[in-house]
Formats: sequence, structure tokens, C-alpha cells
Amino acid sequence: MEKKDIDWGSLTFAYTKTDYSYACNYKDGAWGEDILTPDHSIVMSECAGIFHYCQEVFEGLKAYTTKDGRIVCFRPDMNAQRMYDSAQRICMPPFPVDRFINAVKMVVKANLAWVPPFGSGATLYIRPFMIATGDVIGVKPATEYQFRILVTPVGPYYKGGVQPVALKVSAYDRAAPHGTGNIKAGLNYAMSLYPSVEAHAEGYADNMFLDSQTRTYVEESGGANFLFVTADGGLVVPQSFTDSILPSITRRSLVQVAEDILGLKVEQRPVRFDEIDQFVECGMCGTAAVISPVGKVVDLEGNEHVFGAGMEHVGPVLAKLRATLTGIQAGEIEGPEGWVVEIA
Ligand code: PLP
Ligand code: COI
Repeated sequence: MEKKDIDWGSLTFAYTKTDYSYACNYKDGAWGEDILTPDHSIVMSECAGIFHYCQEVFEGLKAYTTKDGRIVCFRPDMNAQRMYDSAQRICMPPFPVDRFINAVKMVVKANLAWVPPFGSGATLYIRPFMIATGDVIGVKPATEYQFRILVTPVGPYYKGGVQPVALKVSAYDRAAPHGTGNIKAGLNYAMSLYPSVEAHAEGYADNMFLDSQTRTYVEESGGANFLFVTADGGLVVPQSFTDSILPSITRRSLVQVAEDILGLKVEQRPVRFDEIDQFVECGMCGTAAVISPVGKVVDLEGNEHVFGAGMEHVGPVLAKLRATLTGIQAGEIEGPEGWVVEIA
């Protein structure tokens, strides 16, 4: 199979149309057949639930080319389960986990020419999403839905990849206590757009959101969870006491990599903003972000909180974690059983 003629190394995190998308419709209380379609548009009623009451959930995972030329993806069962949970939280019919995994395999296989080669720094981003397509005018869940998967080749989410970025503490909240911050629904991202545009305009790569109940604890950024490293080389992972952080699959995997493969001490606990100066490394982790080092965070009073080497280079512990995770994803390092799933 001939790959597309693309300069893979210069891809950014942007959308490129590929050959096929996957679609499946929900009607009369049941999910229908698998559809692979070259049509990248969706036509629906102006009264569809997505347009009025924002019933939408999504996922993000990637397909990788391994060193020996296989096409794999990373823990798709975890994305399937999280999307199942997200859908239930906003009264959408969950898409079965086994069908989700099959659909991912089907759409990647149909777009093999778009999977970036090993070592290119690029990957095929897989974006499953579900929308309410049925009409609703009163506030209630729709009765018809579409589950869909688009795939698109991408480069690094943050410019520079592993070059540290600067963040600002947001004056706005991303998620309410015990609200929907712990699911992957588009409505959370709508909440974060205004602060995100503001942060970019001021030269920051993203926001650090604090818990909205007390504005005391670190939660997450607009598109990734946080990781901190202590002076003695341990990993600290913020937890939310109001259940408003998205349970990142990358973060949960890294906790296991840190403990079981690298032998690091890991603490998962609420992290107060006023303790971050004690940490020597900070990073954001996620499917798109992988591990993106944070050089400094500027708080609401304008004080700079600088980590280790600051904006110069990634620290040693996050560098090791990143190399181990990407090594597992590229099939160079043996990971826990079932993490790497072969597609072709
Ligand atoms: N937090 C937010 C708000 C995200 O959008 C993402 C991306 O999916 C993550 C965290 C990281 O999650 P994951 O590692 O499952 O991609
Ligand atoms: C992902 O990492 O897959 C996400 O969905 C984050 C998004 C901000 C691009």
C-alpha cells in the first residue's frame, strides 16, 4: 500500500480530510449497521438535539506505525469505556465497547495510506464522536443519534513538541464541582474556549484550571492532565475532590509505567496550587499532548512559578516517562499485556 505524499514531519495538530469516515445511526432504540463513507459531511434537521442542548460526546486516540511496520493503536478499550460513561452522563445511548473497538479498526484499515510512517513524529489521530440527530424542542434527550469516527494525520499538539511551554492560571472555570468535567463532552470545551483564546493572545500555550469550588487545587489544562515531579524524583498526579478532572488514559497509563516499569514513587492526591513551587518538573499529558513539559506557570497576581530548567528543556523524569510511553506505543518497548492493539 502506497502512503500519501505528505511531508509528515511538518504536520501540525490540524484537520486533513482522509479517504473514509465511520458512521453508525441510532434509531428506534437500537444501533444500526457499520458504515464506511467517503462523505465527510453530516446533513441533519435544524431541530437536531446537538444544536440546541449540546448532546455531544467524543474521544481521542491515535494509530501508530511500529518500527517493524505494523499499524497499532493504544488501549482503545479504555476510550470505548470512557465514551460509554460520557454518553450515559448526558443521556445518550452508549455505543457498545466491542463495536467501538471494531469501528476504530475498520476506519483505520480503510485509511492505511494516511497512517504516518514510524519515526516521522506524526500519528493518525482518531476522533470518535456522537451527536444527537433527532429533533428536540423542549429540554430533553433526543431519540436519534449518530456515532461517527473521523481520522486525520497530525503532528504535535503544542508547538515545538517537547519544548517547554508557559501556562497561565485561568480566571475562569472549566468545570463545575460534580458537574461534567469528568466526562469527554464538547460542552466542557466550549467552557474553556474563551480562556483559551485569551491565554493564546497573551502568549501562553494553555491554561491551568484550578478547582472551581475553592480555587485552591490544581485541576487540569484545557486538553490535558497535569503531572508533577518532586525533588527526589517521585511523580505527583493531581486528583479532584469534586470529580471534575477528565480521567486521562495517558495519565493512568503513565502512573502504571512509573510504578511498575520505572520503579518511581507515585502519589495521586489533591495538589494545592500553593505547593507547586516545591516541584522540579511539571508536564501536561494526554493523547494529543503526549507529555508536554511546562516551563512556567503565571498565577493571577502575575507571579511566575518556574520549574527546573524552565523554558530551556524537558526535565529528566518526564523525558524518561515520555520515552517509555512512546516506546511502548511504537512497539519498541514491551508494555503491559493488551495495551498495544494490532490493526494491520
Ligand atoms: N484532559 C482533557 C480536558 C482532555 O481533553 C484530554 C484529552 O483527551 C485529557 C485530559 C487527556 O486524556 P487522554 O490521556 O485520555 O487523551
Ligand atoms: C486528546 O488528547 O485526544 C484530546 O481530545 C484533547 C484535545 C484538546 C485535542
